[in-house]
Amino acid sequence: MDDRPTLPLLAPSGLAGVVVTETAIGDVLGDEGFFHYRGHSAVDLARSVGLEDVWQLMIDGDLATDAATQSRFRDEVRELRTLTPAAEQAIPLVARSRSTLDGLRTVLSLIGQESGMRPLLDIDHARRRRDALRLAAVTPTVVAALHRSALGAEPVEPRADLSPGADLLWMLSGEEPDPQLASALEAYLVLTVDHGFNASTFTARVVASTGADVAACVVAAIGALSGPLHGGAPSRALDLLDALTPLHPDPAALDAAIAERLERGERLMGFGHAVYRTDDPRAALLSAIADGLASRSADAAQRVEVARSVESSAVALLAAHRPGRELRTNVEYYAGVVMDLCGVPRSMFTPTFATSRIIGWTANVLEQAEDPKIIRPSARYVGPPAPRPIPPIG
Ligand code: ACO
Repeated sequence: MDDRPTLPLLAPSGLAGVVVTETAIGDVLGDEGFFHYRGHSAVDLARSVGLEDVWQLMIDGDLATDAATQSRFRDEVRELRTLTPAAEQAIPLVARSRSTLDGLRTVLSLIGQESGMRPLLDIDHARRRRDALRLAAVTPTVVAALHRSALGAEPVEPRADLSPGADLLWMLSGEEPDPQLASALEAYLVLTVDHGFNASTFTARVVASTGADVAACVVAAIGALSGPLHGGAPSRALDLLDALTPLHPDPAALDAAIAERLERGERLMGFGHAVYRTDDPRAALLSAIADGLASRSADAAQRVEVARSVESSAVALLAAHRPGRELRTNVEYYAGVVMDLCGVPRSMFTPTFATSRIIGWTANVLEQAEDPKIIRPSARYVGPPAPRPIPPIG
């Protein structure tokens, strides 16, 4: 008779499909191509309201229904955009590192300390909320200052009269933002606030469950986002377009170049998704926004035209390559195109993504903080049987 103890069930690789908690923040319905924030279609929100309205929804639970509540929240977060003195001093030093995202991690950690952020376990909801707003509000200022500092330029101060999309463009370039570009960027920011239990959101919640402070949760989440499998694809999708642009408008040459990549076993950046089995709704809206920007210049028109040709060729070839899978453009494909057309430098694509996703992270941190249970799963031990004798030395 086998007297070995029955091993507990092993969760699927990557915890795919495992439900680890309940949330009222949002959901992704992969088969339907739909995702929402607190029940509101994220795509409808991106079409109709600004990032701060969605921010209020995520943090306070509801959209404002009167102008006074809406502007109170806007005023509150715009006041929190400025850097702390220590952050100002640290930015030129930190900007020397290659990655803005790594720099953001360091500077937010400093701001958390300098602002006296205390463990979630020791503070009430009002204080947690304030810390969450502070970090999310200052993040665009930090990434823009890091970017400019790396180029040897002075940081540009945030402006309280600008909405988040416009303010980010202003702080990156120091030039008056174009309203069409600002609203295109803001729609992208709304679309990327939250997306289910992705790796960085889960990371933020694990740290929150230990009762650590909000800055610790956010810094850990940035670490998760910095991995190429999570936050690194939009610039790679644009690299693919750059590589294929010289072949445009020859469809046969484009097909041949894409087929060759697939035959080499390469993954086409900006195609396929772990959850969506139909159109990624973010890609659909960003594609429409890219169309709207195409008429701004001959270069913009060409960029969008090439994107369309590569998309139709790639989708057809992927269907033949992986019959039965629905491999279509994902958010990263048109996000790269839209950010590029908005004048966001390629090195700033993932940091720009972090400026909106931090709203989702902090909403999740506040929700997790209401649950006193630490997240502490188990692993199945598969090493040599224990106890092993300790070998003598000598
Ligand atoms: N190019 C070529 N082949 C692909 C692609 C692609 N873009 N996407 C999936 N496939 C292939 C896979 O290799 C897999 O083949 P296999 O069964 O022989 O291993 C098959 O199609 C099915 O893959 P899925 O199960 O649908 O995809 P999975 O969940 O494993 O991966 C992922 C999803 C990582 C997004 C994948 O589609 C990919 O690598 N895409 C390219 C990178 C990219 O665009 N990443 C950004 C995603 S969006 C985001 O994270 C915010």
